[in-house]
Amino acid sequence: MVEPYGGNLLTECAECVTICHMKRTLVAPSILSGNFADMGGEVKNITKLGADWIHVDVMDGVFVPNITFGFKMINDLRPLSRLLFDVHLMITQPSRYVDRFVKSGADLVSFHYEAEKDIAGTIEKIKATGAKAGLAVNPDTPVDVVKPFIEKLDLVLIMSVFPGFGGQKFIDGSLDRIAEAKRLCDELAPDCIVEVDGGINASNAKDVIGAGADVLVAGNAVFGAADRASAIRAVRGE
Ligand code: DX5
Ligand code: ZN
Repeated sequence: MVEPYGGNLLTECAECVTICHMKRTLVAPSILSGNFADMGGEVKNITKLGADWIHVDVMDGVFVPNITFGFKMINDLRPLSRLLFDVHLMITQPSRYVDRFVKSGADLVSFHYEAEKDIAGTIEKIKATGAKAGLAVNPDTPVDVVKPFIEKLDLVLIMSVFPGFGGQKFIDGSLDRIAEAKRLCDELAPDCIVEVDGGINASNAKDVIGAGADVLVAGNAVFGAADRASAIRAVRGE
């Protein structure tokens, strides 16, 4: 059994306090863009090629017009990588399923502001399991909705596309939203970090990092690349 995630990043970096306070930007390849017929192979492959986290997009066909996978997929993938499982829930009323996602292997559970009435309660529920909690905001939701919850959060997830599909174009204007999220974290919750998701590639990664992103999700830019290791480095801004 592979050791579950829980301290790798913390021990690798003396400055880490919560998920990570590394100065290095992290890349979280989204397995949504991987080959579903060989998901285990894809997870092992990106782990070997230098991914920092595994981004797992869960869609219910209600909150977003697409359906992906759920508990069993996460459970079966979990032993194949030592990396943090960054589970992005695009489902309605996510609080109903927090415990089961954590039991299946989620280390970090992010849910959408737009999908849940009880934001504070859902964050509490995630934290009670010992997992890290993230709050995601769609491109048309004001970033400052996260403000009342930010001190309890480990991560703010800024969507730079409308959720539902990989391979979309990065929405112009997202950079200002990333900067705003970073400012809010710096001012109110220095342990909270900023993740950005959607349309990130080697050409826009430097701007996204410059705006304040700590973690960059990349689906097509990694899984669609002939050389995935260089693609991961390029998204990290190296
Ligand atoms: C969109 C998902 C993203 C997406 C990223 O709904 O949350 O994680 O798969 O894929 P790219 O990088 O291809 O936009
Ligand atoms: Zn995602």
